[in-house]
Amino acid sequence: MSVRVMSIFGTRPEAIKMAPLVQELSRREGVESLCCVTAQHREMLDSVLNIFKITPDFDLNIMEPGQTLSTITTKCLLGLEKVFAAGKPDLVLVHGDTSTAFSAALAAFYGQIKVGHVEAGLRTYDKYSPFPEEMNRTLVGDMADLHFCPTTANRDNLAREGVTRGVFLTGNTVIDAMATTVRPDFRFSTDLLNHLDYGSQTVILVTCHRRENYGEPMKNIMTALRRLVEAYPQVELVYPVHLSPVVQKAAGEYLGGHERIHLIDPVDVEEMHNLMARCSFVMTDSGGLQEEAPALGKPVLVMRRETERPEAVAAGTVKLAGTGEEDIFALGSELITDKAAYDAMAHAVNPYGDGRACRRIGDAIEYTFGLRDKGPEEFKA
Ligand code: UD1
Ligand code: UDP
Repeated sequence: MSVRVMSIFGTRPEAIKMAPLVQELSRREGVESLCCVTAQHREMLDSVLNIFKITPDFDLNIMEPGQTLSTITTKCLLGLEKVFAAGKPDLVLVHGDTSTAFSAALAAFYGQIKVGHVEAGLRTYDKYSPFPEEMNRTLVGDMADLHFCPTTANRDNLAREGVTRGVFLTGNTVIDAMATTVRPDFRFSTDLLNHLDYGSQTVILVTCHRRENYGEPMKNIMTALRRLVEAYPQVELVYPVHLSPVVQKAAGEYLGGHERIHLIDPVDVEEMHNLMARCSFVMTDSGGLQEEAPALGKPVLVMRRETERPEAVAAGTVKLAGTGEEDIFALGSELITDKAAYDAMAHAVNPYGDGRACRRIGDAIEYTFGLRDKGPEEFKA
């Protein structure tokens, strides 16, 4: 007897966090593992598939330049109808809060196929921030039968919404992924990253891409970043710029043409994790970086109004900087100039996982489908 599980993802962060799970499921005798990519992202997704050596069984190839939320959703829905007819999964796994995750859960619901939600229970309770992710993950939660929560706070969020059945406390799969990517002897593929002086310069790693930051907030963020470089000659800013045309344009306009601002193409996940391990600190609006950098002991300034990941804020490694130019400049300046303030944040914490999330999710699936007697032990931070 076996259970047929189809993992569906489409963007870079989903791929990074689902890749170790796809690998885990394909090793299990009780699971027939299928992988479907929507390719909501193309280049940034393929880069992850290459690193983790995953060849999808189905590829919807939906990406188009400047795509809207409606085009992503409708293309996924229509494509997945056919994929489900061909693959006949017993369980569909989706990840997090993207439009791919929402559409895939909805398509599975329409097909009366069970849904497992990986990275369940994160909330800001602000409908428009992050947008559209907060609503995506809430709606996926409504449709899901199995909920794999990274932390107890995530599980508590679901309990408050009345969701207590099929809930498993697993840790975040991104910590599993990091076990294979971070190496002290890692060599980067570019001279720039190999030759940066990580010891005596202040190398700040930046990412910024969120839709709710488009426009004024992104302008404020980027203006503050430029001011930090101009104010402190020891700063080197490395920013792998997301391929979204909106982000590319803003980065070029506000951060282009400075010799210590390195606007580079997106790097693959191994390069990213090793760059994070060597940089001084991180300034970002990304979700994933808020989980990865604390595990590496790197301070993070989150350039957003809120965060659904309060655990590392409570642990002291992450600070919410907001999207105001002055606040971002002040907090960045503090980390650059005040060693005590820096040291107070630069300690490795692992509230998000212990590297065994995928094993727990696999066990939980087998348990739910009657292939094992016991569910997994809970993750303890
Ligand atoms: C998406 C997710 C967001 C996630 C982010 C991770 C939604 C609504 N948004 O946002 O939750 O944080 O991915 O990065 O699901 N592009 C390329 N090549 C690529 C990837 C993107 O050219 O490999 C360009 C395309 O022009 C595309 C645009 O980026 O239309 C935007 O991509 P999209 O997935 O719609 O939005 P993201 O901002 O990436
Ligand atoms: N990442 C990467 N290359 C880059 C930028 C980010 O591999 O050039 C990784 C990063 O380490 C993390 C994930 O992509 O694992 C985060 O993706 P992103 O910030 O695009 O999305 P979010 O996490 O905000 O949804």
